[in-house]
Amino acid sequence: MTGTATSGPAGRVRLCPLGDIPAGEGVRFAQVSPPIAVFHTEDGEVFAIDDTCTHQDASLADGWLEGCEIECPLHASKFDLRTGEVDAPPAKVGVRTHAVTVTDDGDVWVELSTDAPRLPPGVSL
Ligand code: FES
Repeated sequence: MTGTATSGPAGRVRLCPLGDIPAGEGVRFAQVSPPIAVFHTEDGEVFAIDDTCTHQDASLADGWLEGCEIECPLHASKFDLRTGEVDAPPAKVGVRTHAVTVTDDGDVWVELSTDAPRLPPGVSL
């Protein structure tokens, strides 16, 4: 799934109403560079990470969400959404995480990480 984003002040970006991200799914936001993916877990938690797998060029928003873990749709690496760390190979490098806030009116905001993106070989901004 793909969503739209609105730029906000100082690295904060308003993405969409939380209702636009069904529980158990992720949405890719390509208006941010590099694209990010926001996941809404079955338990109601919301996480944001870089969308591109660090192994090859695959969209993690197209993967399988289970608990707080996303499985890459291409080679089944797993990433912990809370930390970005790799839980299962072949990926060896974790993805960046971004701080998420859901406001009282239900909008999802992210504060983009200032760390350098960890893109796979052959992929550049
Ligand atoms: S592209 Fe994600 S595990 Fe290979």
